Amino acid sequence: MRVRVTARPVNPSDLLFVQGRYGRRARFATDPEAPDGQRGRDARGGPDGGAPAGAPGFEGAGVVDALGPGTSGPPPGTRVAVAADGTWRSYVCAPAAAVLPVSERMPLDVACQLTVNPFTARLLLDDLGLRDGGTVLLTAGASAVSRMVAWLARRRGVRCFAAVRRAEHVPALERGGAVPLLTGTENDLADRVRQATDGRGADAALDSVGGAVGGAALRCVRPGGRFVSYGMLSGRPLSVPPEALIFRRVRVRGFWLPERLERLERQGTAAVRRLTDEVGAEVAAGLPGLEVAARYDLDAYALALEHATRPGRTGKVLLTG
Ligand SMILES: NC(=O)c1ccc[n+]([C@@H]2O[C@H](COP(=O)([O-])OP(=O)(O)OC[C@H]3O[C@@H](n4cnc5c(N)ncnc54)[C@H](OP(=O)(O)O)[C@@H]3O)[C@@H](O)[C@H]2O)c1
Repeated sequence: MRVRVTARPVNPSDLLFVQGRYGRRARFATDPEAPDGQRGRDARGGPDGGAPAGAPGFEGAGVVDALGPGTSGPPPGTRVAVAADGTWRSYVCAPAAAVLPVSERMPLDVACQLTVNPFTARLLLDDLGLRDGGTVLLTAGASAVSRMVAWLARRRGVRCFAAVRRAEHVPALERGGAVPLLTGTENDLADRVRQATDGRGADAALDSVGGAVGGAALRCVRPGGRFVSYGMLSGRPLSVPPEALIFRRVRVRGFWLPERLERLERQGTAAVRRLTDEVGAEVAAGLPGLEVAARYDLDAYALALEHATRPGRTGKVLLTG
């Protein structure tokens, strides 16, 4: 079906994509490898003009514009969230399974953030399998994903340590039930986590930073615990000392939502539907991390990108119109 998209977030994955550092390669309108018919078009594309191959954007929201012949799905005019490649344009085509109808009560500003971060937070936490009384350390502790994980973890009785580099994030994290750890030097993070866990260390760490912060988070994990790398905000390599693997037997792995969802799809449509319903209920129950910092017209994407990379921001920068 074709969706008229009117809102999309600027996520860290979009920044990686435009830098050519994402897991899938960007193919811009000027890409010599793009098919002839897709070179040099207006970045907004359109229902008759087509769209450039590899436009940025992995999610958005708007209204169903048209159904293809013989296809089923929500009728034209339905408000939807959409998970699709290239949502930074006015129209995207997506299969019905990638489109979630949203209620009139949900602003499209929120709906456009539904399909990536809430699912990521939920699956990151599910995969750790922590029980009541468990502990998890989050790097980039004030990110939208971290705040979602902390909220979900609290409902399961799991204690979250949220490492942040800026004092202004601390009060909101405390209100959200996480234990904020302001990282002056990365070296003291492990000491502070050990103190807070009676010398044990955290059961798990979810790292979206890499580099020195990710390395410090790895040192915070207890023997036999888990370390999950799911982001590369520092742009620096993650150093994994062999001692962590050999003597402390920390289980280290990566997480990538598209790959994780493909695995879930292989379990059948019921598993995907159940997760989607549960994530929808969590959003309705007040999942944090869906606030908006600023809106920019789609044409002003350069300003939006600049705003999205400003340190200390809370809330998403959106591209609208
Ligand atoms: N693997 C996956 O499938 C998947 C899916 C979704 C998201 N993610 C990843 O999850 C992470 C968070 O995404 P989001 O949308 O929640 O982010 P966000 O809301 O845009 O927040 C980004 C946060 O990262 C912090 N930050 C940025 N650079 C940092 C650095 N070098 N060191 C420490 N903190 C830093 C910022 O803190 P300051 O205020 O201090 O600047 C900010 O709080 C990203 O890495 C994203 O790529 C991965």
